[in-house]
Amino acid sequence: MSTTILIFALFLPSLFVLGHYSSQCTYKGSCRDCIQEMECAWCNMPNNNKTGGKPYPHCIHNSLVTNEWCPDDEMFPPSTDYTKTIVKKLESTNDAQNFNPFTPQHFKVTLRKGEKVDIEFQYQQPENYPVDLYYIMDLSNSMEGHRKKLGELGVKLAEALKNLTNDVRLGFGSFIDKVDLPFVSTVEHLLKSPCTGCASPYSFKNHLNLSSDYEKFKMEVKGSKVSGNLDTPEGGLDAMMQAIVCKDQIGWRSKARHLLVFSTDAPFHIAGDGKLAGVIEPNDAKCHMTNNYYTDYLTYDYPSISQINHIAKENNINIIFAIVPKNEDIIKLYQKLSDTIENSNFGVLQDKDNNNVISLVVKNYNKIVQSVTLKSNATDDVDVKISANCQNSKPNGCGDVHVGEVINFTATVQLRECLGANNTRKIISIKPEALHESLIIELDTLCDCPCSSPSHKSYTSNSAKCTYTGDLVCGVCKCVTGRIGANCECDSSIGLSEDTKHCKKTEQAEVCSGQGECKCGKCKCHTRPNPNEVIDGLFCECNNYSCKREAGLLCSGKGICKCGKCSCDGGYTGDACQCPDTNTTCIALGSNLVCSGYGVCNCGQCECTIEGHFGKYCDKCASCPSERCAELRDCVECKAYQTGIYDKDECELNCKGYNVQTVDTFNDDDITKCTVSDKAGCRITFKYIYDDNQELIITAKKEKSCDGPPNVLAWIFGVIGTILIAGLIMLIIWKVCTTIHDRREYAKFENERQKLKWHRNDNPLYKQATSTFANPVYNRSSSRLPSK
Ligand SMILES: *[C@@H]1O[C@H](CO)[C@@H](O)[C@H](O)[C@H]1NC(C)=O
Ligand SMILES: *[C@@H]1O[C@H](CO)[C@@H](O)[C@H](O)[C@H]1NC(C)=O
Ligand SMILES: *[C@@H]1O[C@H](CO)[C@@H](O)[C@H](O)[C@H]1NC(C)=O
Ligand SMILES: *[C@@H]1O[C@H](CO)[C@@H](O)[C@H](O)[C@H]1NC(C)=O
Ligand SMILES: *[C@@H]1O[C@H](CO)[C@@H](O)[C@H](O)[C@H]1NC(C)=O
Ligand SMILES: *[C@@H]1O[C@H](CO)[C@@H](O)[C@H](O)[C@H]1NC(C)=O
Ligand SMILES: *[C@@H]1O[C@H](CO)[C@@H](O)[C@H](O)[C@H]1NC(C)=O
Ligand SMILES: *[C@@H]1O[C@H](CO)[C@@H](O)[C@H](O)[C@H]1NC(C)=O
Repeated sequence: MSTTILIFALFLPSLFVLGHYSSQCTYKGSCRDCIQEMECAWCNMPNNNKTGGKPYPHCIHNSLVTNEWCPDDEMFPPSTDYTKTIVKKLESTNDAQNFNPFTPQHFKVTLRKGEKVDIEFQYQQPENYPVDLYYIMDLSNSMEGHRKKLGELGVKLAEALKNLTNDVRLGFGSFIDKVDLPFVSTVEHLLKSPCTGCASPYSFKNHLNLSSDYEKFKMEVKGSKVSGNLDTPEGGLDAMMQAIVCKDQIGWRSKARHLLVFSTDAPFHIAGDGKLAGVIEPNDAKCHMTNNYYTDYLTYDYPSISQINHIAKENNINIIFAIVPKNEDIIKLYQKLSDTIENSNFGVLQDKDNNNVISLVVKNYNKIVQSVTLKSNATDDVDVKISANCQNSKPNGCGDVHVGEVINFTATVQLRECLGANNTRKIISIKPEALHESLIIELDTLCDCPCSSPSHKSYTSNSAKCTYTGDLVCGVCKCVTGRIGANCECDSSIGLSEDTKHCKKTEQAEVCSGQGECKCGKCKCHTRPNPNEVIDGLFCECNNYSCKREAGLLCSGKGICKCGKCSCDGGYTGDACQCPDTNTTCIALGSNLVCSGYGVCNCGQCECTIEGHFGKYCDKCASCPSERCAELRDCVECKAYQTGIYDKDECELNCKGYNVQTVDTFNDDDITKCTVSDKAGCRITFKYIYDDNQELIITAKKEKSCDGPPNVLAWIFGVIGTILIAGLIMLIIWKVCTTIHDRREYAKFENERQKLKWHRNDNPLYKQATSTFANPVYNRSSSRLPSK
């Protein structure tokens, strides 16, 4: 009870300190983890001096940061408002070649995990923005009727665009299909010219690179020849792919709007159709053009629609489908295709003038020009939210923007996740759809502390503080694999201090027997104020101060205390080493029996086990004949009386240890009294005792008594005899007395008789035979009455 209170009292202050600092920060074990929480700050060396040795945590809440907790140079981030937003401004240049609509164009930002920064910039809708228009025409046989029309369309397009912007480049290409069965007949003469006045079939041909030479464009479009193929669908997607990816050959400018006008009257082959001609390799979305012809059409399958979509987006190409309405199905098909491809529009060539397609292109151009949608290429770990400050704002941008209008944008950049172990610089671009120019945000992620780098001054490899099994990083140990604990002191296979199962003898037992703390699955026993008192043992179950004491001495001072048990010095045994470890003190001198054979030697003292025996060596017995009497007799005889079988020399020799004294009488209570007879029949009486020094002390009666030994029968007969004799004597005395009495009486009688001369008649006893009675009245002179 009192220990619990004591322990509680000891921990109370530290609980208080920790409680004060307790937050999710407190539990962050490394600088990296700590600074990834926005509200936490890290200290390599928290100043624990001022808390009276109670540890401050390394990681604490920003609001608790004080100088007392951490010196400035050990803290990271150095101050709570560390977020650094370095903005590097590049003013936008407005010459047509290097036009960039963003002001500024470049930002540098440093963010912690979870931190947000608002980046404000302006966007100006470009004026006279260059336009590249590439016109792809289906030149299969069926198009013959429309070819002229389409040629005129191209020319008109060029003129319309020139009206919108003064920098227009036009290019022209055409397609038929993969030149192989079943798409195109491979009969030799048909390969040369599949129809009268037809060109030989090809997959895709680039007739004219993008150029500002409108006359040439008109000429090319008008002069192009149709060719022939077999099946209805055409290889339009092959052509589209090549026209997009062959950037250098076609001459797409990076800083221009890209329009691709695709006109056809037939459906298209899709990915997988190539199998019909034995082409199985999927389209690689790469340029394979030689001499303005697509050459590898038999190596690669048709591209998929999603490939086209992706590639078009990647290259900022707006596709406009200008469809010859041969039937409803074609219209529906291309409508759907247009829906699927993000930056695409769809129009049907209706009237003679093709004005609707022209207006489609113009509308499309204007749609691009009159709105702005900004997109970032940030990955999922960075969140970029773009909002515009404009009248008709829409997600990520604005509608109804006039050319030259300046719009204020705000991009909110937040670092959501720290991916990877290192500080990484991320380049994020924000750019308008279908435009090449971009705003660059250089984002440095502050995911790790500088002190985590091995080159940092506070990084110590293989540090002593980490038990030489880890690196001291930012003030804490980073242990090698297999080691754990605050100082890498624990083996991970055993477990942390918190895991106490290895610190208990049994499941129910107290941790470290209540005498220590469990560290790394091992008990660390408490120390005692007295340095001589030590607690030890695997579970602190032992100590060297609680052994049995004898006479106030631990283990009688004759041994050492090991785990609560005395380990005795040589010669001692017993709980408290209080016993000699030999039986010698239990063996009487001259005897070779432990406790005379009547007991066991226990702790150097006899414990008599045979009834009746007692005494130091169990040699005394109240009711049994003494054993040693006979053995000692000869020596007693020779020593006390100089008689017996030993002569003087033999006596000296054989009876050396015996000290024989003589006394007149014995006390009656001496028990070990021996009475033995010598040869002569005289009785020798002696007793023996052992003094404390185990010396045998023999005391003999001075005089031998030489009458035979007392005999019970003799006693009985003696008693009877005595009684008889006494009776006899009494009879004799009685006889004598009566005789004496008789004689005396006789003598007296004789005496009396001689004194009196008795007549015979005087015999008083004699009575006369005759009786004479006198008459009382007759008085005569003679009276014979004997009465006087
Ligand atoms: C804490 O005290 C120790 C010795 O008492 C001293 O060496 C150390 O510099 C002190 N630390 C701080 C941060 O004051
Ligand atoms: C070009 O613009 C002028 C005047 O702005 C207009 O008259 C002409 O019709 C336009 N041409 C085309 C092809 O739109
Ligand atoms: C287009 O330009 C490329 C090189 O830039 C050239 O090889 C090719 O022949 C040109 N094509 C036409 C049709 O002029
Ligand atoms: C756009 O931002 C600039 C500079 O930040 C400011 O001067 C201007 O007033 C802002 N315009 C609008 C429409 O908010
Ligand atoms: C971190 O940087 C170190 C060296 O600078 C490199 O060895 C390690 O692969 C990098 N880790 C990651 C996840 O980029
Ligand atoms: C975003 O675009 C820029 C510029 O094109 C590029 O440097 C950066 O690597 C891209 N970032 C991602 C995450 O793709
Ligand atoms: C207990 O053990 C310690 C260390 O072994 C020793 O210094 C001390 O004297 C011992 N105490 C006793 C009472 O034996
Ligand atoms: C001492 O005597 C006891 C029995 O009395 C016996 O068990 C023990 O072994 C003896 N010890 C020695 C050292 O003779």
